[in-house]
Amino acid sequence: MINMGINTMYTKEGARILIVDDEPINLKLLDKILSAQGYNNLVLLQDSRKVLDTYRQQRADLILLDINMPYLDGFDVLEQLKALDDPLFPPVVILTAQNSQDFLLRALNAGARDFITKPFDRNELLARVRNMLDAYLAHRLVFEQKDVLDEIVQTRTNELRRTRLQVVQRLGRAAEYRDNETGNHILRMSHISALLAKSIGWNEADCELMLHASPMHDIGKIGIPDHILLKPGKLDPEEWEIMKTHATIGANILEGDDSDLMRCASEIALTHHEKWDGSGYPYGLSGEAIPLTGRIAALADVFDALTSERPYKKAWTVESAVDLIKESRGTHFDPELVAVFLQQLPEILNIRDRFSEPESEGNPS
Ligand SMILES: [Fe+2]
Ligand SMILES: [Fe+2]
Repeated sequence: MINMGINTMYTKEGARILIVDDEPINLKLLDKILSAQGYNNLVLLQDSRKVLDTYRQQRADLILLDINMPYLDGFDVLEQLKALDDPLFPPVVILTAQNSQDFLLRALNAGARDFITKPFDRNELLARVRNMLDAYLAHRLVFEQKDVLDEIVQTRTNELRRTRLQVVQRLGRAAEYRDNETGNHILRMSHISALLAKSIGWNEADCELMLHASPMHDIGKIGIPDHILLKPGKLDPEEWEIMKTHATIGANILEGDDSDLMRCASEIALTHHEKWDGSGYPYGLSGEAIPLTGRIAALADVFDALTSERPYKKAWTVESAVDLIKESRGTHFDPELVAVFLQQLPEILNIRDRFSEPESEGNPS
């Protein structure tokens, strides 16, 4: 692991220059010339075996590298550094007394960017160092800004997902309030739906979709007249027909957008009252003709509705709700989903506890 050691100084003077030369006199000379020019972040190394560790601890913005050194020569050092695969690898300038074409070509191929021939010419040295740093620091700035931008995009994306979830949950909650249902019903119902999806092997993204889309299952109730929706007694057949239209109204509200979320939400709104044996509504679909999203939502919705207290009924006990679900295996509900539901019952009860109604605490359930 390389310590990127991002320093906030982008001035050339603050740039870290690693100078490697086995001759102390050369190090001293380079130090003197560069310091006099204002470069104040010089790291001098006489032992080429220490380059790799030094670089790992604190990367450099420029490396001036001697070639002829004991233990590890400049080519060996270059090879070690290149193997780090640092995306921000700094330019390496070779310090050499040789200037044969073969030698220079070999150094270039090994990854060197430029040369300074010994003995050093002060002006040439400063010009090369300045040019290298100008180019490298500009490159580094762009690179680091890209990281910052990536992070901003990630944060914004997360924020957007969070807001979207909030909006859909609150939209669902609005519909539930109109229906005198409790706000937490949609939280429990959507988490149970996502759990069932996960338990039948759906991937994480699809489970998340289920979690975000199912809260809107009853959104169509906002299109049902109050005298029906809020009627305390039993609905007569005509009123019941109108009540049933909440499924298509919901689908109409949600359809028309091609995002996965809206497509899934619309499908659930439309099909969450279909029954496995074909006796549901609005289309009387049966078996696997009912989208799996609708089958899952139906089971989660009914279980939570049964075990919740409503103005017109007491909460059922978990036991009796489970009995009803078992009895409805293959009539109302997809039998395979019922099996998964029963396996996951402890986790489903955890969800109930997590999102319990404060005012209903102590009620038999
Ligand atoms: Fe419904
Ligand atoms: Fe519901």
